[in-house]
Amino acid sequence: MKKVQDHYFKKAKQEGYPARSVYKLKEAQAARGFLKKGDTVLDLGAYPGSWSKYILEVIGPSGRLVAVDITPFRPFAKNMVVIQKDITQLAPQDLLAIAPKFDSVVSDMAPKTTGHKALDHLRSVALAHKALELALAVGAVNCAFFCKVFQGSDFPAFLSKAKAAFRTVNVLKPKSSRSESVEIFVFGTEIKRRIRGRGLED
Ligand SMILES: C[S@@+](CC[C@H](N)C(=O)[O-])C[C@H]1O[C@@H](n2cnc3c(N)ncnc32)[C@H](O)[C@@H]1O
Repeated sequence: MKKVQDHYFKKAKQEGYPARSVYKLKEAQAARGFLKKGDTVLDLGAYPGSWSKYILEVIGPSGRLVAVDITPFRPFAKNMVVIQKDITQLAPQDLLAIAPKFDSVVSDMAPKTTGHKALDHLRSVALAHKALELALAVGAVNCAFFCKVFQGSDFPAFLSKAKAAFRTVNVLKPKSSRSESVEIFVFGTEIKRRIRGRGLED
């Protein structure tokens, strides 16, 4: 366990990424190839920026990245916009004012863990629901969605909502995600039902 942690931690350091979490996104990209050159991408829970850095490498200078986090940080590319906000306060209009539609919405958001498993799970699921709602409000029809969520009692309801919204939905556990971690990733492609307000539209 420790070995895996050290391996990805060191690798991230060597490759110039601020966090080891980048390999979770890299693995998903290697398997699914959803991020493309020129894409407009929304990165939720982006600080300290390893996913953002990798996304910018893939989308290139013709792409656009909007990175959101409650923690302040500076954009590190011309085609990157940072929004410092609590996601619960973020409206689709805030994003649509920057880009008309997003090709991918990724979320690595995680609540500050309390050690209380059930509470941490519920907070994680609430963040994942918000990420899903935003994706359905600002995503292009062929939008991809890659979202971290902690497993627990409310995970099946979240998965059902994702399945109702996207044509294809898979649950992924990247190798670089620690086996003891309750985190799991939901990957969806092609929006079939858009969201307005808090509910799903037909
Ligand atoms: C695991 S870190 C993200 C790491 C990032 N993907 C990277 O690779 O560098 C989770 C992030 O979620 C953010 N976060 C948690 N709750 C949030 C909220 N309500 N609104 C916005 N960001 C939030 C945290 O501030 C934290 O930076």
